[in-house]
Amino acid sequence: MDRNLAMEVVRVTEMAAIASAKTMGRGNTNESDQAAVDAMRKAFDTLSIAGTVVIGEGERDEAPMLYIGEKVGKASDGAPPIDIALDPLEGTNLCAYGRPGAISVVALANRGGLLNAPDTYMEKIAVGPHARGSIDLSKTATENLLNIARAMGREVSELTVVIMDRDRHRDLIKEVRTAGARVRLIEDGDVAAAIATCFEESGVDVLMGTGGAPEGVISAAAVRCVDGDFQGRLRFRSKEEEARATRMGIKDLDRIYKAEELASGDVMVAATGVSSGDFLKGVRFFAHGCETHSIVMRSKSGTVRHITATHRFDKKPM
Ligand code: FBP
Repeated sequence: MDRNLAMEVVRVTEMAAIASAKTMGRGNTNESDQAAVDAMRKAFDTLSIAGTVVIGEGERDEAPMLYIGEKVGKASDGAPPIDIALDPLEGTNLCAYGRPGAISVVALANRGGLLNAPDTYMEKIAVGPHARGSIDLSKTATENLLNIARAMGREVSELTVVIMDRDRHRDLIKEVRTAGARVRLIEDGDVAAAIATCFEESGVDVLMGTGGAPEGVISAAAVRCVDGDFQGRLRFRSKEEEARATRMGIKDLDRIYKAEELASGDVMVAATGVSSGDFLKGVRFFAHGCETHSIVMRSKSGTVRHITATHRFDKKPM
């Protein structure tokens, strides 16, 4: 993938973030999501790529735009085929109800580089580069926390573990508390939480728990860019979901995927804050424009760019 693409692709998340940020706090999740999807779709048309959405808003018959299989980008002759995993608004509820932590995010890989994850759940564990190699989903949460703490040269009591506040996590939360770690419960947004583990200044050390499988692939791509670590195991809510995964080519339904098995080869990730969170500020509007905060990361170089952009609506209307 052309490294200059990293600078281009951030426009896509910036536009989706600005459009959805304008709907923040209005309590209308559909409106927020639609605004992000419309803006991201439009922004993709400015990129010189032959992109295919492999993780998107849903199947073709359930999503009018950014559906799985949709071609995006103005492919010029010889433009490399790129697979794209996207979440125009990760944390739709967070944005719609004016809560922190909503982001817009895309991951790009060479053709075949992203697992075509079924829309089911995934059990996840993510850590930053200092704890790389210390996680193992086949072990208990307690064992993982001990290993992570050892790798990071800390006490378990000095680790902050983010877990989504869900009934299904009641036992996990109990175990993590008993192990002595600090627990931060979030309402939504486990992609942002997985990325946050890779940035020390976020104060987040570990993500644990079960969330969306598509979000798991995006998280794995992001974590890979900065040499963090991620593991995921598909979790099915019904026999239908299992059958769907089998149809999609998943052979071992119990397999534990490593980050590089979910997102392989050269990957690139861009994310822009919609509402302020642990590592990205949200969109701030002012007269005739706004400011956005984004990160762009590439696995090949390991470069992380923090991009603060000022957008002038009087010069470039949205
Ligand atoms: P969207 O806002 O993109 O729908 O996802 C929000 C989210 O919280 C994800 O971060 C997470 O993986 C998933 O939903 C969890 O699903 P559920 O709400 O069913 O627990």
